[in-house]
Parts: sequence; C-alpha cells; structure tokens
Amino acid sequence: MERSKALGFARRVKRIEVSAIKQMPLLARSVPDAVSLGQGIPSVRTPEYIRRQVIELLKHDADIGKYSLQPGVPELKQSVAQKIAQTAGRFIDPELEVFISAGAMEALFAAVVSLVDEGDEVILFDPSYASHIEQVKFASGTPVFVPLIENDGWALDEELLRRAVSAKTKAVIVCNPGNPTGKVFSVAELSVIVKIAREHGLYIIADETYDFLVYDGFCHKSLASFSNIKDMVILCGSFSKEFAMTGWRVGYMVAPAEVIEQALKVHDAAVICAPTVSQYAALAALTNRAECKEETVRDVLARRRELICARLDSLAEFFSYVQPGGAYYVLPRYLKWDINSAEFAHRLLFEAKVITIPGAAFGPGGETHVRMSYGGTEDDINKAFDRIEHWSRMSKRFT
Ligand SMILES: Cc1ncc(COP(=O)(O)O)c(C=O)c1O
Repeated sequence: MERSKALGFARRVKRIEVSAIKQMPLLARSVPDAVSLGQGIPSVRTPEYIRRQVIELLKHDADIGKYSLQPGVPELKQSVAQKIAQTAGRFIDPELEVFISAGAMEALFAAVVSLVDEGDEVILFDPSYASHIEQVKFASGTPVFVPLIENDGWALDEELLRRAVSAKTKAVIVCNPGNPTGKVFSVAELSVIVKIAREHGLYIIADETYDFLVYDGFCHKSLASFSNIKDMVILCGSFSKEFAMTGWRVGYMVAPAEVIEQALKVHDAAVICAPTVSQYAALAALTNRAECKEETVRDVLARRRELICARLDSLAEFFSYVQPGGAYYVLPRYLKWDINSAEFAHRLLFEAKVITIPGAAFGPGGETHVRMSYGGTEDDINKAFDRIEHWSRMSKRFT
C-alpha cells in the first residue's frame, strides 16, 4: 500500500503542492554558485529606524515576547485603518474591520478558507500568483482561470471575465500590482471587475502586497476605494516588501466586519496572533517613516527594473516580454526553445546556473515563460544575464 494512503493524509493537503517559487531555490542548493532571479525577496535590509526601535523595545518592554491580543496590537490596527482610510476615502473601523495577520499570505488564506466551500469556483487572472491557486484548491474550491491578453500588455478582456462567471462563482482574486507579470490594472479594468462582481454578488479578494510599488506612468488604485462595492472587498496587505520585512511575517486584512469575524476564527486556529515583536516593528515602520535614512525600496527597485528590461532588450531574439508596471517581476516568453517551462527553468539552472521560476507554476497562461525577479542586487542581475546571454547564444539544442 502507498505510504501516504496508509497514513491517511487528507485529500485537501494531497491535492496541493509547495509552489515552484520555493522549490527552485531548494533544488539550486545542489548547484554551487547559482545566481538567483528566483524568489521574491528584495536584497535590501530592514531599515535601521525599524531595527533600532525594536531593539529598544526588546530591552525595556517585558511583554514584547508574549502573545498580543488575537486580532493584533491595537495601535497597529489603528495605523493600518488610517492608512486604508486615506486610500478608501472613508472611515475604517480598527476594531471591527481590521486584523493583523502573519503576512499577507495568512490574510489571503483566511479569506479563501472563510469563503470557499467544496465545489465553489474562484476566478483567478492567468497568469496568477501560485499561492492563490493552491489556497483555492486547499479550500476544496475550483480555480477558474481568466487569461490576461499578453499581446496587449496582459490586458483584461471583459468578455472572457463574463464568460468565466457561473452560478458557483464565489469570489475573484485580484493581485494588483501582479505577481508574476508586474501587471498594474488600470482604473478602467478595475471598474469592469467591480461591475461584474456587483452584478453577480461576488467577493473580491484584493491582494495589494505591492500597492506601493508602481513605476512611471502607472498609478495604483486600491480596490478599497470603490465605494459601490465596499461590502464585498477583502483587502490583504503586507509589510514584507515595502519595508523589506519579509522575514518578520506581518500583514493585514481590511474587510467588512462580518468577514473579519469569520477570518479571525481561522487566524485563531492557525497562528493565534501575528508575532508580537513583528507587529511592533510594523508599527514603527508605519508611524516613523520620516526617520528613514535609507533609499526607499521603490527607488532601488525602479533602477533594477530599468536594468533587467535593458538586458532583456538585448536578448530580443530569444525572449519577448511585457514591461512590468509594478512589483518586481517580469515574465518573459522564451522564443526558441520548444520545451515546457519546467524543463526550461531546469536547464537554465543546471546549464547556466541561474535560478528562475517555471511559468507553468502561475497557471496555464504561464507556460512557455519563466518568471524573473529583480529583487536581487544589480550585480546579481548582471551576472545572471551574462550567463543567460552566453547560454542562449551557445545553446545548440533548442528542443
Ligand atoms: C502577490 C503576493 N501576495 C502575497 C505574498 C506574501 O506576502 P507576505 O510576505 O506578506 O505573506 C507575496 C510574496 O511574495 C506575493 O508576491
């Protein structure tokens, strides 16, 4: 008998996978000197003003190592409510409409498992963030992919979205700016999503982890700012990327009170509370920004975006790509190799010693692409592209 059957692991767990985003760096441990365009971790260090305040608290606050209140440290909930109130243009109740999560990931997880029952469908834009797919599957829901139109800058096609809605559709997940494409939805596109969600009574789960990270010419509009659907929007946000705090594990959900009430049950069952010390770090991050002496993550990444696009431009015979408008990912299509994206990423790793993520991890529309992150240093990006360039030109076998 198969070992997992003997042990009786649950179907909900057997049907999901650790995403390729995490698997590729593990695989790369067997490749000495591999350089990474893989995982989405900015190379930047958590700013000094945040670290300094946490050190002071660790010295003097006897409660810093204890659980916080389960929905989060009240001052932090207040600060998050104020931040989102500015975006949304309305009052957000810190007591009823906010909870502090262990990263945006936990808020997203709580949202999905609070809403989705077996057989429910959840609309995802394709390509979409790999973990959204796994979370829906974990909740026994069915991901329904709506392709974004690559030739039109990963544009939304209203007709395709309309056709994807069925009587079983529960929610639509919108990642804006998007991982893995760097897509920033225009106000017109968001209005279409809102209109269709309203017509069909769908929840919108808005993953706005990269809300701060949009580049020239683009503007980020939060789904929380659409007042005509405020009772159906579940906003999930993060401190990970804006404040270079990926390892602190702190994020938030801002949603209607009845959603927060359900999500808090999941939060309690899963983690009790977000790490207290990290919540105080997040509070310092939000309230004392003026003390930040370092260049912002946004400015650093804007430069790296220029660099990676220039390097891709010089490889136009091998890769086509849509310039990212936000976040720090680009999803180039490889043009000369007639192999699937898993094989392509493996060959890049073992032959060129460069870590990328196979596009298929992000849904069917990701196939024949690889995701590259430009969170790494400029030296790493250059080193990776020197290798990719050499490998592409020397690659004898395109199939
Ligand atoms: C789109 C998206 N959502 C959520 C997350 C997870 O964020 P957090 O670290 O706040 O859990 C990531 C991390 O890369 C991401 O890219």
